[in-house]
Amino acid sequence: MFRSHTCGELRPEHVGQEVTLAGWVHRRRDHGELIFIDLRDRYGITQVVFDSITATAHQVAEQARSEYVLQVRGTVRPRPAEAVNPHLATGAIEMEALDAHILNAARTPPLYIAQEGGEDEALRLKYRYLDLRRERMQRNLILRHRVVKFMRDFLDQEGFLEIETPIMIKSTPEGARDYLVPSRVHPGKFYALPQSPQQLKQLLMVAGYDKYFQIARCFRDEDLRSDRQPEFTQLDMELSFVDQEDVLVLLERLFTELCQTVAPHKRLLTPFRRLTFQEAMDRYGSDKPDLRYELELISLSDLLAQTPFQVFRNALAAGGQVKGLRIPGCGGYSRKQLDELVELAKTGGARGLAWAVLPPAGGAVRSSFGKNLGAGELEAIIERMQAQTGDLLLIVADTASVVAASLDKLRREFAARLNLADPNILHFSWIVEFPMFEWSEEEQRWDARHHPFTAPLDEDLHLLASDPGAARAKAYDLVLNGYEVGGGSIRIHQRDVQQQVFDLLNISRETAQAQFGHMLEAFEYGAPPHGGIAPGIDRIVMLLADESTIREVMAFPKTQQATDLMTAAPSSVDERQLKELHITLR
Ligand code: AMO
Repeated sequence: MFRSHTCGELRPEHVGQEVTLAGWVHRRRDHGELIFIDLRDRYGITQVVFDSITATAHQVAEQARSEYVLQVRGTVRPRPAEAVNPHLATGAIEMEALDAHILNAARTPPLYIAQEGGEDEALRLKYRYLDLRRERMQRNLILRHRVVKFMRDFLDQEGFLEIETPIMIKSTPEGARDYLVPSRVHPGKFYALPQSPQQLKQLLMVAGYDKYFQIARCFRDEDLRSDRQPEFTQLDMELSFVDQEDVLVLLERLFTELCQTVAPHKRLLTPFRRLTFQEAMDRYGSDKPDLRYELELISLSDLLAQTPFQVFRNALAAGGQVKGLRIPGCGGYSRKQLDELVELAKTGGARGLAWAVLPPAGGAVRSSFGKNLGAGELEAIIERMQAQTGDLLLIVADTASVVAASLDKLRREFAARLNLADPNILHFSWIVEFPMFEWSEEEQRWDARHHPFTAPLDEDLHLLASDPGAARAKAYDLVLNGYEVGGGSIRIHQRDVQQQVFDLLNISRETAQAQFGHMLEAFEYGAPPHGGIAPGIDRIVMLLADESTIREVMAFPKTQQATDLMTAAPSSVDERQLKELHITLR
């Protein structure tokens, strides 16, 4: 028996018992006759005292260094009153060593296990197996385990079956670039890694498995961000004989119970708020608004239709908008601070940012644009925005999408600066009624906003023929604290509607046949009405763990450049391997 207890287990009721622990040297304090070692495993830390009276054990403690692996036999005893540590679960006791063995020595680790933070993330990723020894990563991985276990148990109770689908599939057109796997057996042919199991789960519905889920690994070769990794995990789900409302209600119950179970210290707001896509864009400039704070976008377009100020008038004349944000308490901003905000607005696509400050001490309004306005217009803006002394007003005039993107950036920036988002609140919302299509200027054609199998709203079906841009989909996103944590839709199950959508997306019959022939054929053998959703597990765990990147909740993530610093992937391969795969590098 290597150990009788873990390093997090001993309590006053064990006093007097002889126990054996095994773990790593977390800290070591050498007082000569007495050596103290904090022995650590993933369950906790136990203080072990080595007295020189027990010579062999004391000698081991003399040799031991940080991160050595030890096995220690000893007796549990209470700590002296002044040495009790209320912050440590085992802090009321200590172990008096009788015998000890070094199970393994360790080189001095390149990062301190006992002292978190400060070092470069690259170092943490290169030595991830050391970083994972730390409390923060342990806490996050344990939480992740509990989240996934809760999902499995919940869905099992609801009658769902967990079914695995292949990792090597045919390329699915879902927006991002595929990762490809060359075939050795079929020269010049490739498998793709799934961007999601979308088509397979729909085929499972045709097959009659009416409640499916999978903890599914997905692969997308896209630009990475703090909440995007090239491989990530979804709770992938699909249901038959349901409409949108059934999916939303089930998922709301799942997430409510999940949060109450794994994050009871957080304040969960229920029922989840629902916003249409249009409403979210109009009021917050984003289809994933953080609703923990208001700070709404205020429309000024109607006030300024006749303004002499060219910037505003031209934007409106071209079908655009003029909208603003009122930032309370920032009326004292300096010119330099305002210039920084202009730059921030530009990252959202705006060509400029109009600002006005109502000085905190009162007095005249200062603004970047007031002198260009017509009589009474500045006053009308101030009134519409309900601006008060000490406020900062920020205004963007441009196309609707640029106005939204720029003001969304500013809204998020000020929420951070002014601490508007309470970290203890979980504010879920559903964004519904997404447009079916978005127009691609680059390619001069319609693109599917979700994916080509998404069904239109029943009442918008007729718009597919007359006004596709106005057609709304039975598509929904789950948003949590400003992040998209899930997306799904009700699917098209009628062949003629599917064909109409393919035609709109300019997918020729030949292409449709080559890419989705198997789907179209399957749909001729009795496809039930069906729909589903795929919450992103990494993002949900990130938010529950109060982390700001999903890398912190993945055991072995990749960098923003999609590299694995620990194993040095991607890497070159042998000429022999390439030859087998019929590949010549350019
Ligand atoms: P979608 O593409 O919206 O839908 O993805 C669903 C959810 O997956 C998460 N996600 C990611 N997480 C980390 N890194 C990424 N690169 C990444 N990309 C997406 C997000 C997102 O909301 N098959 C459809 C679902 C369906 O229709 O049922 C799909 O994959 O949280």
